[in-house]
Amino acid sequence: MKIGCPKEIKPQEFRVGMTPNAAREAISHGHEVYMEKNAGTGAGFADADYTAVGAKILDTAAEVFAKADMIVKVKEPQAVERKMLREGQILFTYLHLAPDPDQTHDLIKSGATCIAYETVTDRNGGLPLLAPMSEVAGRLAPQVGAWTLQKANGGRGVLLGGVPGVSPAKVLVIGGGVVGTHAAKIAAGMGADVTVLDRSIPRLRYLDDVFGGTFKNAYANEGNTIELARQADMIIGAVLIPGAAAPKLISKAQLKELKPGAALVDVAIDQGGCFETSKATTHQDPIYEVDGIMHYCVANMPGAVARTSTLALGNATMPFMLALADKGWKKACADDVHLLNGLNVHAGKLTYAAVGQALNLPTVNAADVLK
Ligand SMILES: NC(=O)c1ccc[n+]([C@@H]2O[C@H](COP(=O)([O-])OP(=O)(O)OC[C@H]3O[C@@H](n4cnc5c(N)ncnc54)[C@H](O)[C@@H]3O)[C@@H](O)[C@H]2O)c1
Repeated sequence: MKIGCPKEIKPQEFRVGMTPNAAREAISHGHEVYMEKNAGTGAGFADADYTAVGAKILDTAAEVFAKADMIVKVKEPQAVERKMLREGQILFTYLHLAPDPDQTHDLIKSGATCIAYETVTDRNGGLPLLAPMSEVAGRLAPQVGAWTLQKANGGRGVLLGGVPGVSPAKVLVIGGGVVGTHAAKIAAGMGADVTVLDRSIPRLRYLDDVFGGTFKNAYANEGNTIELARQADMIIGAVLIPGAAAPKLISKAQLKELKPGAALVDVAIDQGGCFETSKATTHQDPIYEVDGIMHYCVANMPGAVARTSTLALGNATMPFMLALADKGWKKACADDVHLLNGLNVHAGKLTYAAVGQALNLPTVNAADVLK
């Protein structure tokens, strides 16, 4: 199969869909890999890193789209990229179609077979191509929160780990899933006094069994949330209710009860945010203040560490990319229901029910298009 990887064109996106190591494995499986010139630069991969493993470099995205049987990307295709898709071509990338009718209509019109990273599943009910980005955002959260807490940035002027004779900062993590667990591990590793809140008792049991000595946990009712928030130097928002907007767990009125200069890091901002006063920010201008409380609400946190994120995403996507290339999309999806769950659009038809419901469009059963 001819696999093409264009340079990402969404603003502030520095990741790339294929690492040189992914290209190497695809080539060793007998496939051809075509990279757009400078596609990997933002993630620290030079064109020479790709040619060294046998990939070919093309000057423009148009050439990559024209050549490839399968396009492997990171972000959803932008309007200009969607025009270059064609019938029978495979697109393997994040799509996030439910809130995006324009993209959905364009992909249906293209006739391409579009497999979305974010709906591929695993046998534990998880989302294996979303989890690496949650791991990155979670591990980054205490790091950016620690910076936000510095005096020059408007914070309380508190060092996360304290020093001998001075107590460490108190960090409250709301939501103990992938983001929250990784955030808590790193904050505890930096020496902070960490508590994680969650509404799922099985999850609290897991956190207690595995991390009982590293950080504390508590049930996320309103009373516990505000009591722990009042004591916290940093609060990390990491909740998720799948398919729904994030619940608002700290109101504007409650900001007055927090410590002046406390840092709120709202990782759940991509689902609307879990603090009432959260609004999405960018890496250029990441923080702002409301009622004396500093807010960090960057919607694409993994972009800050594009190289780590690219490598983590590449590890997770590679087995699926190889299956699609080795077997063709139909057999790969027939052999693996979890990859089939990623199928969102095929040959002019929507194949993912939740997207159809969100956009009021007809869908066909993904399994039926395999027949
Ligand atoms: N900003 C970014 O760059 C970025 C990157 C990755 C993920 N995210 C977002 O981070 C959020 C968390 O993602 P995740 O992968 O950890 O999800 P997850 O499903 O692994 O974990 C979410 C946790 O929240 C808990 N929860 C739900 N409602 C709660 C409530 N009211 N109080 C306390 N806990 C509650 C759930 O029980 C679950 O354990 C999501 O909104 C995700 O989209 C953002």
